[in-house]
Amino acid sequence: MGSLHTQTTFPFEGKFDITATREIEHYGENLFSASHSDEGERLECLAGALDPVSRRNLLALGLEAQWTCLDVGPGAGTLSGWLASVAGSAGQIAAVDRDTRFLGHLAAKGVNVIEADITDPAFHPAGRFDLVHARLVLMHLRDREEVLRRLVSWLKPGGLLVVSDALAVGGETSPHEAYRHTMTAYWRLLAETIGSDRHCVAQYPRMFTELGLRDIGMDTHLPVVGLDTRFGRFLALSLDQTRERLMAAGLPAAVYDEAIQHLDNPMTREMFFAMATCWGRTPTVP
Ligand SMILES: C[S@@+](CC[C@H](N)C(=O)[O-])C[C@H]1O[C@@H](n2cnc3c(N)ncnc32)[C@H](O)[C@@H]1O
Repeated sequence: MGSLHTQTTFPFEGKFDITATREIEHYGENLFSASHSDEGERLECLAGALDPVSRRNLLALGLEAQWTCLDVGPGAGTLSGWLASVAGSAGQIAAVDRDTRFLGHLAAKGVNVIEADITDPAFHPAGRFDLVHARLVLMHLRDREEVLRRLVSWLKPGGLLVVSDALAVGGETSPHEAYRHTMTAYWRLLAETIGSDRHCVAQYPRMFTELGLRDIGMDTHLPVVGLDTRFGRFLALSLDQTRERLMAAGLPAAVYDEAIQHLDNPMTREMFFAMATCWGRTPTVP
């Protein structure tokens, strides 16, 4: 028996109209709101899939005890907690998020949790940091160049900026039609509503250079949906939260459902995004 996707027709091809539901909003206001019943699990799956890679990158970049660190948009907060365990009691770890409801566990680890919007020009964290880290945050901010400038301004001389974001890979070119159309619709929805840029990370080496950073480097990690269970669950929960909006924009329910069935198949091997990490240091003599 052939797979379902070979039987489906795609009458909507070329007719996907995101403007039908176009609303300018910010990350977390509606899409990926912390009020959503699955958002805590979604963020934990993301952290479970990517924390080992971030930890490895940060240790390779010289993270050590006594560093002061700022984790921007920590989500589930597991990486902030780990930073506190590495930096130890002498280190001061702060975590800033516009919604801190999943960060209650961090107080016991000595993390200073700040509820603030990092795009707010009035917000300035106290002190200067040896490390400012932001993972999968800047790509969702329309004014990311200005935010990047602010993150750099919060570093000590010689401080390290580490920014990871998604680089969309494979979904929009998948040979599986339903998955390809669903992922194309998904990325367009995020771009047109939140302002997410699934390719902006490619500009970071240039932006870091223009901001005066030195020792710039980049690394990528490409998890496979179907092999990395937590990453696959993160994708499924992300699609689930966008389902109604994708339908409203013209993605047929049958195509969406077929994509979900495809993801449920244990033989499926697909891409969602690569996590690309860019880093650089401020000059030691300002
Ligand atoms: C995709 S999640 C990433 C979570 C975590 N960094 C990770 O990679 O597991 C984005 C996080 O950034 C936060 N965030 C989004 N916009 C923000 C803003 N303007 N100011 C502060 N935090 C923001 C969200 O609340 C959420 O916790």
